[in-house]
Amino acid sequence: MQDGLRGLATKRVAGSLGAEIHNVDLKSLDGTAVKQIRQAFAEHKVIFFRDQHLSPPEFLSFASKFGEPVEYPMVKGIDGYPKIIEVLKQEHETTNFGGVWHADTTYLPEPPMGTILLARQIPPYGGDTLFANQAAAYDALSDGLKATLAPLRGISSSAKADASKTREDRIKDSGMKSADLLASHPVVRTHTVTSKKSLYVNVAHTVRFDGWTEDESRPLLQYLFQHQVKPEFTCRFSWEEGSISFWDNRTVLHNPINDYHGFRRSMHRITLAGEVPV
Ligand code: SIN
Repeated sequence: MQDGLRGLATKRVAGSLGAEIHNVDLKSLDGTAVKQIRQAFAEHKVIFFRDQHLSPPEFLSFASKFGEPVEYPMVKGIDGYPKIIEVLKQEHETTNFGGVWHADTTYLPEPPMGTILLARQIPPYGGDTLFANQAAAYDALSDGLKATLAPLRGISSSAKADASKTREDRIKDSGMKSADLLASHPVVRTHTVTSKKSLYVNVAHTVRFDGWTEDESRPLLQYLFQHQVKPEFTCRFSWEEGSISFWDNRTVLHNPINDYHGFRRSMHRITLAGEVPV
């Protein structure tokens, strides 16, 4: 445990990424604490908090200190709060929201910089979320493969077959059409804050390399998809009610584990606006 200024304490949860931040009340952050949390976010890529039972306005106020909350495409917000969505799996459902390794909505021209999830109701066991450090995944590649990837761009599609039943249900509920959204992004993305390079493809959305066919792209993409989630690049977070995770979508993949059939899991989620990846 490292003691930070004014009592904030940070504890790493794995070798590659992820840290829990303790001794902090997210309802009353001063400028120093906000700065320290920003530093921890840049360093650890995904940060976690416990026992933060924030109301929706408090949750939005916390999120606004770190970015600009935006509406999630195709999913309707909770009543009165269009920028907070519920990530829900009900007792009778067998598929979960986003149950595949992914970075959020890479099929948008400006995918979100970060996502914040607050646990409202969790199952008695299971329902953990995995995270994978894409800067570490990039660093571990050979110089030869790094040189091959450097000029490439990946095409992300919202129509790739990851969409879970629950996500589709929410789309229908919201009355919006699930058009096929496409975007082209660099396969190796440079972080605008840390300047570190990260792999920026994901099995949920990346369908091919720009200028390549899907058949041509498949072997190299498959290699990257399995490489980028090797256990040594990951951490795993076990939720309690009031837990928060805040991950950097520019350099982290996540994957919620669907191992709690018969139980309800409800999370509130805020997405923070991003920029054009470079
Ligand atoms: C998601 O935003 O993809 C869901 C993450 C989770 O439910 O843990």
